[in-house]
Amino acid sequence: MTQSVRPVSLTQYLVEIQRDKGLIPGELRLLLEVVARACKRISLAVSKGDLAGMLGEAGTDNVQGEAQKKLDVIANETLLEANEWGGHLAAMASEEMEGVYSIPHRYPRGEFLLLFDPLDGSSNIDVNASIGTIFSVLLLPEGVTEPAVEHFMQPGTRQLAAGYAVYGPSTLLVLTVGDGVAKFTLDKETGSWTMTGNHLRVPDETGEFSINMSNARHWHPPVCRYVDELLAGRDGPRGKDFNMRWVAAMVGDVHRILCRGGIFMYPRDTREPDKPGKLRLMYEANPMAFLVEQAGGAATNGTQRIMEIQPTGLHDRVAVFLGSRNEVERVTAYHREN
Ligand code: AHG
Ligand code: MN
Ligand code: MN
Repeated sequence: MTQSVRPVSLTQYLVEIQRDKGLIPGELRLLLEVVARACKRISLAVSKGDLAGMLGEAGTDNVQGEAQKKLDVIANETLLEANEWGGHLAAMASEEMEGVYSIPHRYPRGEFLLLFDPLDGSSNIDVNASIGTIFSVLLLPEGVTEPAVEHFMQPGTRQLAAGYAVYGPSTLLVLTVGDGVAKFTLDKETGSWTMTGNHLRVPDETGEFSINMSNARHWHPPVCRYVDELLAGRDGPRGKDFNMRWVAAMVGDVHRILCRGGIFMYPRDTREPDKPGKLRLMYEANPMAFLVEQAGGAATNGTQRIMEIQPTGLHDRVAVFLGSRNEVERVTAYHREN
């Protein structure tokens, strides 16, 4: 008879990391639990969809000039409300807010900084495709009492934790605190996050790539060369066929890569020469790079490790190449040769 194994909850996982391994302080564990609770609420809102008027435009633009969807705004508010009173945070920053959100003085303040992309993959909302939430945790520099933008300007190597939730066929939470990558599935009957994977690994080799091909005419030569070689398949220099997938939500593409490998690319291109890519460093690229590296993969902007980039603003953009190590190293080498 096989012995049934009791499922491990998110709380148990974090308590073990805090108490038994001593890898995170108790306050960080509590903060991560609050973030997970907020993601649960967002998941509920997402799943109600049209029934609760969740779809469609909010009628406003965010700081980056993008039209906000109702769910962008709802997810942002859910994360702010859930996190502002717990006493673990000094401040928050979000894709949907121009500046720093300091914890109101009526609440106790903690020592952490939380960054998030409340709703990733906004263009998928109205077509019922996968979307998610991405987050990153930093430490407020010592001695600072009034957190400001400058205190968030820390490279990704200083992240204490990072993760994402995917609102897809299942709701998942994928998390790292620097001890590998663990995956939890939301049990919608009991409301608990149950571990459904630990020590996720991105294979070094892959036959799958992810890029928005409609931008091909705007790419720079190293990206053209790399993708042309993939497209040439077994008759080309790579000597094998590659498959392509594009979810249009980074969470979806990164999650697939954490499950079975692949390379995800959002390069800078010639459309807006001054703009270094589309994705945002602080709350998209850095947390995803931390997760992918913790799973044995790599993440660069074409020339530099993403997590070593010194940020200059909350909404800095960056080119992204991440996933299976051998492919990321190859496309990075093509940039360097260029
Ligand atoms: P967001 O919805 O938070 O603005 O992010 C969307 C991002 C990313 O998730 C995705 O990989 C990419 O934009 C899709 O871009 P295209 O629309 O150019 O395909
Ligand atoms: Mn996003
Ligand atoms: Mn977003």
